[in-house]
Amino acid sequence: MLRTQTCGELNLQHVGQNVTLCGWVNRSRDMGGMTFIDLRDRYGITQLVFNITSNAALCMEARKLGREFVLSAKGIVAERSNKNLKIPTGEIEINIESFEILNPSKIPPFTIEDETDGGEELRMKYRYLDLRRTVNKKNLELRHKMSIETRNYLNSQGFIEIETPVLIKSTPEGARDFVVPSRMNPGQFYALPQSPQTFKQLLMIAGFDRYFQIVKCFRDEDLRADRQLEFTQIDCEMSFVTREDILNTFEGLARHLFKAVKNLDVPTFPRMTYQEAMAEYGSDKPDIRFGMKLTELNDLAKGKGFRVFDEAELVVGICAEGCSEYTRKQLDELTEWVKRPQTGAAGLIYIKYGKDSSIKSSIDKFFSPVDLTAIIQRFNSKPGDLLFIMAGPKEKTRFAMNDLRLEMGNRLGLRKSGEFKPLWVTHFPLLEWNDEARRFYAMHHPFTSPLPEDIPLLDTDPGAVRANAYDLVINGVEIGGGSIRIHNKELQQKMFKVLGFTDENAQDQFGFLMNAFEYGAPPHGGIAFGFDRWCTIFGGGDSIRDYIAFPKNNAGRDVMIDTPAGISDEQWKELNIKPLKP
Ligand code: AMO
Repeated sequence: MLRTQTCGELNLQHVGQNVTLCGWVNRSRDMGGMTFIDLRDRYGITQLVFNITSNAALCMEARKLGREFVLSAKGIVAERSNKNLKIPTGEIEINIESFEILNPSKIPPFTIEDETDGGEELRMKYRYLDLRRTVNKKNLELRHKMSIETRNYLNSQGFIEIETPVLIKSTPEGARDFVVPSRMNPGQFYALPQSPQTFKQLLMIAGFDRYFQIVKCFRDEDLRADRQLEFTQIDCEMSFVTREDILNTFEGLARHLFKAVKNLDVPTFPRMTYQEAMAEYGSDKPDIRFGMKLTELNDLAKGKGFRVFDEAELVVGICAEGCSEYTRKQLDELTEWVKRPQTGAAGLIYIKYGKDSSIKSSIDKFFSPVDLTAIIQRFNSKPGDLLFIMAGPKEKTRFAMNDLRLEMGNRLGLRKSGEFKPLWVTHFPLLEWNDEARRFYAMHHPFTSPLPEDIPLLDTDPGAVRANAYDLVINGVEIGGGSIRIHNKELQQKMFKVLGFTDENAQDQFGFLMNAFEYGAPPHGGIAFGFDRWCTIFGGGDSIRDYIAFPKNNAGRDVMIDTPAGISDEQWKELNIKPLKP
C-alpha cells in the first residue's frame, strides 16, 4: 500500500506515530509561518501541517499545491492546539516531513464541498468530481449497505439470486421499450427488460421456489424525480404461497432494512385497500405520516342551491388544523395553486371555524350557519380549524384534493423527514379503461391474478374485477409492487382476450409463458421494489438521481459521456437499419 492509514482514522491514540497518507488537497491555508492542507480521501479529512521554521523549502513547495492535487504525504501525528471536534480526526494533525505529488489537477470547475457552487448540469458533466463530495459519497455508501443487507436477508430466507437476460423481446404492454438492433438477424431487434417479470415466473416453473435479483430495468418513459430510464429493482418471486405469505416475507425484508440501515424498529405495517386509500387520501400511495383525511360531503353539500356542488359527482374536503387565521391573501394564493394545470382543480371553497367559534365561509350565500355547522361536525373540527372543499368529477377531484393535502402537509411541517410510515395497499383494480385506445389495460401487468372471487366478473364486468396485487408505500412513495400470478393457461388466455389481444397475438407475444404453464406451473407470486427509490427515502433525498452513481438528466442524457449519440456509417450498414427519411 502507498499509505499506512486513511484520512479518516487517525486520532489522539496515534500521536507520535510516523504515518503516510494519500489523498486529494481539499483546501489549503497559509498562516504566516505555517501552511495547512486538508487532505481528503473516501474516509475523511486530515490536516497536514508544514512549518516554515522547521523546513522552509518543503513549506514553499506545499504552498504551490492546488486544489484536488493527489498527494502522498509522510509525517508524524501530533495533537492539535486548535481542535475541530466536528470531525473524527479533528484532534490531531500531521507534521509533514516529506510529500510527493502523485498527480496534479486542473482547477476543478466547482468547489468539492457539500455546499458547492456548481450547478446541476456542471456537476453532472464532471460527475466523478461531484462524487468526491461527502454528500454523494454517503448516498452511495447507503446504497451499498442497502444492497448488502437485502442480500443477507433474502439469503437467510432461502432465496437464490439468479441473473436473467438483458437482451429480450419487445412486448406491447407496459411502458415503451428500449430496443437493440441485432446484427446477426438483420431487421430484428431485442428489447431491454422493463423488468424480469416473465423470466422470474419461468424460474418458478423451473422449480427454484424462491428467487431474487438486484437488477437493472429499462423503461423509455418521461423522467421525474422518482424515475430514471434505467433503474434498479430488488426483484423477487416465490412458489407455493398466498398473498399473506408474500406480505409477511417482504415486510420482514423491510423491517430488516429499517433496523440494519436506519436502526429503527418499525411496528407491523398497516394494510389499506385501494378503495379505502382512494376515498380517504385521494391516492393509491398515501402519506400516512399525517391525518388530514379526505371527508366526503355529498349528502351535506348537495341540494342547497349551490350549482358547483349540486352538479358535482363528488364534494370532498380536508381539515387544516389551526389554520382558521389564514388571510384572504393566503387563501387566494392557495386557490391559484390548486388551479395550476398539475393539480387541475376548478376552485377551492373554504370554511373558517374561528378560535371564537365563529363560522365564515366562501359559500355563506347558500349555506346557513346550521348547514355549515353540520359540515364542521362531519370533520370533528375544533375552533381554530380551516376546512377546504372541492367538487367535481370523482377521480379528478380526489386527485386534486390529494395534491392540496400533501401541500398543506408540507406547509404545516407534518411530513417530517426521519419519520417513516410504511403501509401495504391491497385490492387494486385488475384493469384500467383507456378512453383513447378504447380498451382495458392491466393496472399492474397482464400476469397478475384476479382475486379468485372476482374471476366470474371477467366475463360480465371486467372493470370491477379486483387484482390479487399489493404495493408497499413509504411516506407517500410507491416503493414496490407485486401480485399473485396467473399460473393457468386458460385464465392467462382469457386475460389477454380481455386486454384486446387476438389468440394469435397472445400466442406470438407470450406463447413461451403460456406453453410453460402446461408443464406443471406451481402457484406463485412475487414483488419488485424500486431500489433507487428505497435508498432515496432512507437517505432523506429528493431525487433518486442523487443515489445513482451516473444518472441521466431529465432529457434522458448522460452529459458526462455525452450520450445518446450518433453511430458511424459503418455501424448503420452492419446493423442493416436505415434512418427514416424525413
Ligand atoms: P412495477 O412496474 O410496479 O412492477 O415496478 C416495481 C417498482 O419499481 C420502481 N420503479 C421505478 N423506479 C425508478 N424509475 C422508474 N422508471 C421506475 N419504474 C418503476 C417502483 C415500483 O414500485 N414486474 C413487476 C413487479 C412484480 O409484479 O413482481 C414490476 O416491475 O418503486
